[in-house]
Amino acid sequence: MRLSRYFLPVLKETPREAQIVSHRYMLQAGMIKQASAGIYSWLPLGFKVLRKIENIVHQEQERAGHIAIQMPTIQSADLWRESGRYDAYGEEMLRIKDRGGREMLFTPTAEELVTDIFRAHVTSYKDLPLTLYQIQWKFRDEVRPRFGVMRGREFYMKDGYNFDLTKEDALHAYNRHLVSYLRTYERMGLQAIPMRADSGPIGGDDTHEFLVLADTGESEVFYDSQITDLKFGDRQIDYSDHAACAAVLDEFTSRYARTDETHDAALFNQVPEERRRTARGIEVGQIFYFGTKYSDAMGALVDDGKGGKVPVHMGSHGIGVSRLLGAIIEASHDDKGIIWPEGVTPFHCGIVNLKQGDAEADAACQALYDSLTALGLEPLYDDRDERAGTKFGTMDMIGLPWRITVGPRGLKNGVVELTSRRTGESEELPPADAIARIAAIYQGIA
Ligand SMILES: Nc1ncnc2c1ncn2[C@@H]1O[C@H](COP(=O)(O)OP(=O)(O)OP(=O)(O)O)[C@@H](O)[C@H]1O
Ligand SMILES: [Mg+2]
Repeated sequence: MRLSRYFLPVLKETPREAQIVSHRYMLQAGMIKQASAGIYSWLPLGFKVLRKIENIVHQEQERAGHIAIQMPTIQSADLWRESGRYDAYGEEMLRIKDRGGREMLFTPTAEELVTDIFRAHVTSYKDLPLTLYQIQWKFRDEVRPRFGVMRGREFYMKDGYNFDLTKEDALHAYNRHLVSYLRTYERMGLQAIPMRADSGPIGGDDTHEFLVLADTGESEVFYDSQITDLKFGDRQIDYSDHAACAAVLDEFTSRYARTDETHDAALFNQVPEERRRTARGIEVGQIFYFGTKYSDAMGALVDDGKGGKVPVHMGSHGIGVSRLLGAIIEASHDDKGIIWPEGVTPFHCGIVNLKQGDAEADAACQALYDSLTALGLEPLYDDRDERAGTKFGTMDMIGLPWRITVGPRGLKNGVVELTSRRTGESEELPPADAIARIAAIYQGIA
């Protein structure tokens, strides 16, 4: 992409409505525009990152054997009456009437709809286990929408639902989700810590939230500092192996880590004092096992193979896809702007032409652009007729992890400059070497 032809409405002034850095930078970098309270349009740069995050979520869901579907955003109130949640859900639910006076709602979550799909089509234990998921817009009429996409009213969420014959199988599905979530967040450059949580209106006993540590997080968290040393890394896990998934759950949840909702001071005090940490965190996902709560209420039964019919055991599992943009920025920025992890960056590298219109500089930039593109990478070429300072300022704000700077002086010596956004370190090297370096960095990522 050439910047002169892109739509990147970078703001010069600091937006006053933004209270936290991720909201401010998303507005300043031209990623989102508020449409109304807690509802945003996604501008090209923001939309690109949203898609990157969504793709990682899809890939990791598929790797875990989960199957993508798409359910509607508008649902009938009748289904929610069957589960008893239509009245229970309260004011967060946006209720709508169609022209025939029928009561509808904008989906805040989709346990009822997916259970309705299941009961219509699945009748035998032979079709289990089954996990269906979607990535879809949700609406919750939050009392206080704030912090940009962090607490929106309309937000993009991955919601997945497992159906299993037995409690034991459903708990395996729970563990499998925990493993796949660890992989998912790490690919985005994030450490998200599973913490024992409270189940809220979804219901159920077993539940963990995934929290990204950040001072601006809305949850207070208490944990054993050893937990931040745990890395999932590139382990290969067989998702059908119950013991292997359970071992990962044990490893990542055996140390104390709880949110304020479930915090137990007496238990926490058993952690050696030097390892006790109190901090704030951003909830980027949650997993639940809730047994037969919905299958009982809605009659989702299967033949158990022994002549009887039994309600299926279920759980639901969410990832806050749009909130993740805010969480990643909170975890990765400096005073000049965003610093995208390679896994989610909107463009793989920036190319800054220090002397637009200089035949040699223009040709060198174009050659870099073509070579990177041919390798399947997406560079953003700042070909505007602007001062170097302005171009660097834009690149720093939008946070591409790598920048290649091209100017007539360097070209005389056969070199360009490769700069890391994260460390600020620069290195002069021939254009071909810069390309090879960028290609190596993104090997296995892009
Ligand atoms: N208003 C929102 N705006 C953006 N993302 C949200 C919002 N509400 C929930 N999410 C994301 O969706 C994920 C799954 O939804 P879940 O039902 O667990 O939310 P929740 O526990 O009600 O969230 P919170 O406690 O932050 O209100 C959450 O972990 C979070 O990342
Ligand atoms: Mg939650």
